[in-house]
Amino acid sequence: MHVLVIGGTRFVGRHLVAGALERGWDVTVFHRGTTPNPHPAAREILGDRRTDLDRLDGRWDAVVDLCGYLPAEVAASADALRHRADSYAFVSSISVYPDAGPERIGEDAPRKVLEETVDAFTPALYGELKAACEDAVLQHWGPDALIVRPGLIVGPWDHTDRFGYWVRRIARGGVVLAPGDGAARTHFIDARDVAAFVLDALAARRGGTYNVQGPEHPPTFAGLLAEMARTSGAAAEIRWAGDAFLTAAGVQPWTEVPLWAPGHTLLDRLVCDAALAAGLRFTPLATTLRDTLNWETEHGTRGASLAPERESELLAALPLSP
Ligand SMILES: NC(=O)c1ccc[n+]([C@@H]2O[C@H](COP(=O)([O-])OP(=O)(O)OC[C@H]3O[C@@H](n4cnc5c(N)ncnc54)[C@H](OP(=O)(O)O)[C@@H]3O)[C@@H](O)[C@H]2O)c1
Repeated sequence: MHVLVIGGTRFVGRHLVAGALERGWDVTVFHRGTTPNPHPAAREILGDRRTDLDRLDGRWDAVVDLCGYLPAEVAASADALRHRADSYAFVSSISVYPDAGPERIGEDAPRKVLEETVDAFTPALYGELKAACEDAVLQHWGPDALIVRPGLIVGPWDHTDRFGYWVRRIARGGVVLAPGDGAARTHFIDARDVAAFVLDALAARRGGTYNVQGPEHPPTFAGLLAEMARTSGAAAEIRWAGDAFLTAAGVQPWTEVPLWAPGHTLLDRLVCDAALAAGLRFTPLATTLRDTLNWETEHGTRGASLAPERESELLAALPLSP
């Protein structure tokens, strides 16, 4: 297989390129060069997808587009490459679905609609933009399009400091502030599983749209933190802070306390039957946690999530449970 990857050097793309090379595929990565290409065995075409699509003058079996966020840009690459490859895979997101929606969210559930023309990436419109990007790919590629909608992606090279925050925080040990009561199920997918799913689909010439989420046996949040403690060998004492306490303290869901999303049930309602039937496989949770801990220990940098001082402040204000 000859594959052109638009992106491919940061997180999911990095695993996807590694997986394709392991399969003996010939891989070309097209990116600007701001994130160095970690794969010497991949060919590299440097350029910006906004201005340099004319540099893509080869012929490939498949394109994988990992950095499409603006419909006009995705439409341009989907159009420019239509006669240069046989299929076009677009990595979208479950953010295309509004939080209010049907009880079970399959691929045909209603998506968010982009009501305006947007020239620059706007985080608040991420889901609307991704939905419009999907449409641009489908318009040009029809049945030769593969649209993959992952939920929360985790694993080594995850720069977002969400799942990684918890892996690092638990490994640090001591008294840990955790949101909610720990009973809710958690959902996430190892980046390597997303990558393998895309590569398998391309190898099988399978198009279509797929929700992809894991893990195989979703643990409760308490169970997940306990697994993280087992992985690192840390002694962590969890203190649960309820939604009302955190909200009253002005704590920002998701960004300040990662994975805390009170009232949001999208991940719980997502149905991945189509991907499972198409062969979606899951890395064992213990492997994801071990590899993430190793990566976080070596490379992890703190993002905007809960600072230790703020955590201590909140812990001091937290009423002791009866
Ligand atoms: N993280 C999650 O939980 C999550 C969940 C659902 C969906 N997703 C989706 O997963 C996808 C994967 O993201 P990723 O960052 O991990 O992918 P990636 O392919 O590993 O990294 C992004 C790549 O895009 C390149 N790039 C950025 N802007 C470019 C431009 N204008 N022209 C050419 N290349 C450009 C970057 O290289 P240079 O900087 O060198 O250009 C980099 O190689 C995204 O589409 C995201 O929406 C993520």
